[in-house]
Amino acid sequence: MCGIVGVVGKSARDIILNGLTNLEYRGYDSAGIYLNDQNGHEYLTKAVGRISNLKEKLTPDEQGLVGIGHTRWATHGKPTVDNAHPHFDETKRFYLVHNGVIENYAELKKKYLQGVKFHSDTDTEAVVQLVGKIARDKNLDGFSAFKEALKLVKGSYAFLLIDNTEPDHVFIAKNKSPMMLGIGDGFNIIASDAISVLDQTKTFVDLQDGDVGDITKDSYTIETVDGKKVDREPHVLNIDPNAASKGAYEFYMLKEIDEQPGVMRHISQDYLDENNGTKVDPKIVDAVAQSDRIYILAAGTSYHAGLVGKQLFEKYSDVPVEVGLASEFGYHFPKLSKKPFFIFLSQSGETADSRVVLKQVNERHLPSLTMTNVEGSTLSREATYTMLLEAGPEIAVASTKAYTAQIAVQAVLAKAVGEKKGVQEAKDFNLKHQLALAAEGMQQLVDGKEHIDDLAKKYLADTRNAFYIGRGIDYAVALEGALKLKEVSYIQTEGFAAAELKHGTIALIEKDTPVIALINDPATADLTRGNIREVEARGANVMVFAGKKFAQEGDDVVLPDIDYCLSPLLTIIPAQLLAYYASKNKGLDVDKPRNLAKSVTVE
Ligand code: F6R
Repeated sequence: MCGIVGVVGKSARDIILNGLTNLEYRGYDSAGIYLNDQNGHEYLTKAVGRISNLKEKLTPDEQGLVGIGHTRWATHGKPTVDNAHPHFDETKRFYLVHNGVIENYAELKKKYLQGVKFHSDTDTEAVVQLVGKIARDKNLDGFSAFKEALKLVKGSYAFLLIDNTEPDHVFIAKNKSPMMLGIGDGFNIIASDAISVLDQTKTFVDLQDGDVGDITKDSYTIETVDGKKVDREPHVLNIDPNAASKGAYEFYMLKEIDEQPGVMRHISQDYLDENNGTKVDPKIVDAVAQSDRIYILAAGTSYHAGLVGKQLFEKYSDVPVEVGLASEFGYHFPKLSKKPFFIFLSQSGETADSRVVLKQVNERHLPSLTMTNVEGSTLSREATYTMLLEAGPEIAVASTKAYTAQIAVQAVLAKAVGEKKGVQEAKDFNLKHQLALAAEGMQQLVDGKEHIDDLAKKYLADTRNAFYIGRGIDYAVALEGALKLKEVSYIQTEGFAAAELKHGTIALIEKDTPVIALINDPATADLTRGNIREVEARGANVMVFAGKKFAQEGDDVVLPDIDYCLSPLLTIIPAQLLAYYASKNKGLDVDKPRNLAKSVTVE
């Protein structure tokens, strides 16, 4: 959460503002920029709200050859101008932007900064004040003072620091929060992710936890906090900058929903051969095949994909699976099986809650795999193995294509492991064919999006709450459908196991309460129809999304045929579209719902 960009050696203002706009997915409640023209002029501007507000506040003469900028997702202190970054020390010599959380900021203030005047309620300000204090007390240059301060700081951070007595440098430090160094011709850029500055360079240095750096326009030095030099080689990133652009779409979310058929084809090409064989690193397959239980850990949408993964692994790999919310699991480890294997599902690969679990998995020397959409992301670097989701950049805060990619990639691994173990179901599982069906079915469903828009207009325009109900695998999709609807349209929505409603929650059903019923489970299709009648009898407006085999006249969406365990790949499409239209029709910013951020790097 929070996005940072720093530039040295080139007109910094526009690069920083563009970069921050691209990073708004990481937070967008306030923003700020510090610019220094290296000629004695410096400018600090901050604004509450979006980067567009910051742009409006900047005057044309505010330019610089070095600068740092920040887009914020508030953790400590409300979204106000004072709490927006960059923060500065008492003497206004040092300016700092920060992504992460300083755990011991209160202690730092108490122990080292008594009598220092603070301007904000943030944890970050304690760090820049500390740098300033150390520089003054010990008469140190900026970089040395920064390193001294870092020795006292506990927490997660990506820091960019400017010392206005040496305005041709940006000093950086990274621990647990993402940060990339982009190498330009006569300039250098530091940013939370590479995509945000791809229009400036394609050559990047991956920074690692513990790295501290001194960046000038044509050099970079990376070392440890103790001054030991570290080699970090640049590499060229092969990402098509257009993949991250909105094109003709009004919102990324719809673009990303529409991209899902292509994602299925891509995964099929990358992970399956012509004869339906799997192309997965044999080391991963062996490691999972040797395990007696898989533990899938994730958060939010990725957790919901894990619930589907459980069914896939249990059926096709014949191995028991436990799915956990990373934030719970991290502090309440269950009694593990004798040979556990851990799978971390994470679109961003940066989720702090998941990192807490992975840290403990590594301390216990247990094998792990991260399935992520972001190559080189922290969870991928820290796990034993990685499988990429190949979904392309996902920019909208609400996850769509990463969810379906997570299901498809789990299916690939489930089949690969099952085949290795000789599980008959895995041998018979024609995944190539199923993913082709998924791509075709998704296409058919996204082509029918106007119908979903009509449903949203008819049933969701004025409602304050709604329900998704389903049984079996549809329950997992109900949870995800509900999350999508609530996070982008602010309609309070619950995902429910259909039969559980009558055990209490049915008390909330009243006239016109929207209930979306999902029916793909052969074992319970008829029973779910019964649950629908129960809510209809109490006045609910029911929308039914049913698999072709179970559909009845009057159902709102008929889902094309597909393997039961893969049915979420199709059921979720109208649910994603419903959320999209419910939000858009209310005039909300679909891509950037309030209070959220794409990459959740705080616990
Ligand atoms: C919801 C959404 C979140 C994420 C969750 C985990 O649309 O995107 O619930 O799924 O924050 O993020 P990742 O997958 O990056 O670990």
